[in-house]
Amino acid sequence: MEIGFLGLGIMGKAMSMNLIKKGFKVTVWNRTLSRCDELVEMGASVGETPAAVVKKCKITIAMVSDPAAALSVVFDKDGVLEEISSGKGYMEMSTIDPETSCKISEAITSKGGSFVEAPVSGGYKHAETGQLVIIAAGDKALFDEAILALNVMGKKSFYLGQVGNAARMKLVVNLIMGTMMTTFSEGIGLAERSGLNPSDLLDILDVGAMATPLLKAKGPNMIKSNFPTAFPLKHQQKDMRLALALGDENAVSTPVAAAANEAYKKARSMGLGNLDFSAVLEVVKPYKD
Ligand SMILES: NC(=O)c1ccc[n+]([C@@H]2O[C@H](COP(=O)([O-])OP(=O)(O)OC[C@H]3O[C@@H](n4cnc5c(N)ncnc54)[C@H](OP(=O)(O)O)[C@@H]3O)[C@@H](O)[C@H]2O)c1
Repeated sequence: MEIGFLGLGIMGKAMSMNLIKKGFKVTVWNRTLSRCDELVEMGASVGETPAAVVKKCKITIAMVSDPAAALSVVFDKDGVLEEISSGKGYMEMSTIDPETSCKISEAITSKGGSFVEAPVSGGYKHAETGQLVIIAAGDKALFDEAILALNVMGKKSFYLGQVGNAARMKLVVNLIMGTMMTTFSEGIGLAERSGLNPSDLLDILDVGAMATPLLKAKGPNMIKSNFPTAFPLKHQQKDMRLALALGDENAVSTPVAAAANEAYKKARSMGLGNLDFSAVLEVVKPYKD
């Protein structure tokens, strides 16, 4: 099956490479076209525009940074809408808000195409090895048609029904992850400042009830103030912002997440937005008067 792939950032590159390695014919596009070169070396074709990719492929996947980027790829000149038609499917895998996802869905289906939103949980290492968790909703026939590709990219795919549900679920998941990371950072900062060895903290957490792959993966680098980018902090802050808006819309108090969002905003104001989201640790580092 010929799959189109729009957006070759940290995640899109790893996911499309994985599809190629598993034998899919993939046509790629990226706003900065030079980023397609590595994929071409692996056997991908390039579409000059999102419209050109959709014209060529039965199913096209998008994996771009945020709602504005997702809208741009679909609605701008040479965008997806120009070529989407009956028999073609569009899968939005970027993390975006449900309203944006519904807007894209309506535009695609009004042209006869089918739409699935399928944001993912997991980082680029999971993307490289096909171990993502895929949270999908929308057209069930398209979900079923794309299942072989989804099974290459992910270790498990959830189907949650109507469009918007998967976008909401992904925001809930990242609200939890974002607050966990800020609390973990405060703990590391407090351990350090109060004369404890932070690696002892990691060892203790690792054998207790709070052990998680997230803390295990991030902790050792964090205590050395290393924040190699896996999930850019600016995207985690975007997810907190979208999750808080979801809280507002549903009259749910989210005071802890709101405080965590402030920490991510502060980190962005310190120029840390392109580092890994674990760099939020820099915000809670001990102050000196
Ligand atoms: N990284 C992770 O661990 C992770 C995990 C789960 C979900 N996600 C989500 O997956 C999505 C992609 O994340 P990422 O980490 O791959 O981000 P990234 O490395 O920052 O890549 C962003 C991609 O979006 C493109 N883009 C940005 N603005 C655009 C625009 N206006 N029009 C067209 N393309 C645009 C970029 O193109 P250029 O190359 O031209 O800049 C690039 O291909 C985000 O929604 C993120 O929240 C990420």
